[in-house]
Amino acid sequence: MTSPYSRITGTGSYLPPRRLTNADLVAELAAKGVETSDDWIVERTGIRARHFADADTTCSDLAVHAARHAMEAAGVQAQDIDLIIVATSTPDMVFPSAACIVQNKLGIHGCPAFDVQAVCSGFVYALTVADAMVRTGSARKALVIGAEVFSRILDFSDRTTCVLFGDGAGAVVLEASDTPGILASDLHADGKHVGILCVPGQVSGGSVVGSPLLTMDGPAVFKLAVGVLEEAARAALAKAGKTHDDIDWLIPHQANIRIMQSTAKRLKMSMDKVIVTVDQHGNTSAASIPLALDAGVRSGQIKKGQTLMLEGVGGGFTWGAVLLNL
Ligand code: UT7
Repeated sequence: MTSPYSRITGTGSYLPPRRLTNADLVAELAAKGVETSDDWIVERTGIRARHFADADTTCSDLAVHAARHAMEAAGVQAQDIDLIIVATSTPDMVFPSAACIVQNKLGIHGCPAFDVQAVCSGFVYALTVADAMVRTGSARKALVIGAEVFSRILDFSDRTTCVLFGDGAGAVVLEASDTPGILASDLHADGKHVGILCVPGQVSGGSVVGSPLLTMDGPAVFKLAVGVLEEAARAALAKAGKTHDDIDWLIPHQANIRIMQSTAKRLKMSMDKVIVTVDQHGNTSAASIPLALDAGVRSGQIKKGQTLMLEGVGGGFTWGAVLLNL
């Protein structure tokens, strides 16, 4: 049986317990001879703290916690799930996918499970794929997860990147519905920008060839991000026949408060309508949007029936937006 729409019925998230304030990180970096400051980090990014997973905690561990919270919120049992998509760039292994490992840890067997690799746009990509699969009858109750352990790929001698990122996971249950949930999405990529944000290494012959650590031209990413986020939001609104006035909450990728402020301004939206978690989470890549969504839902800011604009941008270069009714 197919249903015309898909709808989010539960959200969940999880942050590893180890929380580092800027002061904690600044002290750790100073001990390694890397100079930065709370003032610089707050002023240039809005970040005040981030969470780092312990060495024995994997991406799938974080994903499973978030998935359980989302299933609980949706009133769905693990055995009801018939599709698992994990958006991540920091999976437990080269293969199998984090999604297969999550599936096993949840005690689910047989349903399709796969990862989506679109870096910080991963969650909006994964949600769009899940929406299409639900609407065409391939699934009725999907788990869509964004989970990352970016602390594993940070170069702690590079102050221009290591202060920006954190670890965490967010998840939603997306179910077949007779009423509209996901209203429209708009996804893009332009591979000519591969070099501005990447981990340029690969595993070959038993060792890493190239670098296994993140490298980014921050100002170049910043410049591109602001423009494409506005375009993707406007395209999703147009597809759904809506305007910016119809958006109750903007939930952008949480990379930098200044990017969020510029995007809101371009969309003629007040910052009062933007969910902000970058101050407490840092940039958690594919996890940042579902983490922010769950934070907004659980704080009571976001209410059922409201219209949300989710927006991602990141390595690839990838970007996209999903407009939905909760
Ligand atoms: O998740 C995927 C998407 N990623 C993003 O959206 C990130 C986008 N980019 C950004 O958020 C910003 O470009 C950054 C936060 C990465 C950098 O901010 P910026 O305002 O573009 O700074 P900048 O790179 O132009 O650097 C300004 C100065 C430089 O010093 P000089 O050359 O002016 O003397 C840097 O060396 O700030 C210096 N700097 C630092 N100083 C203290 C760079 N990092 C640090 C640091 N602490 N951690």
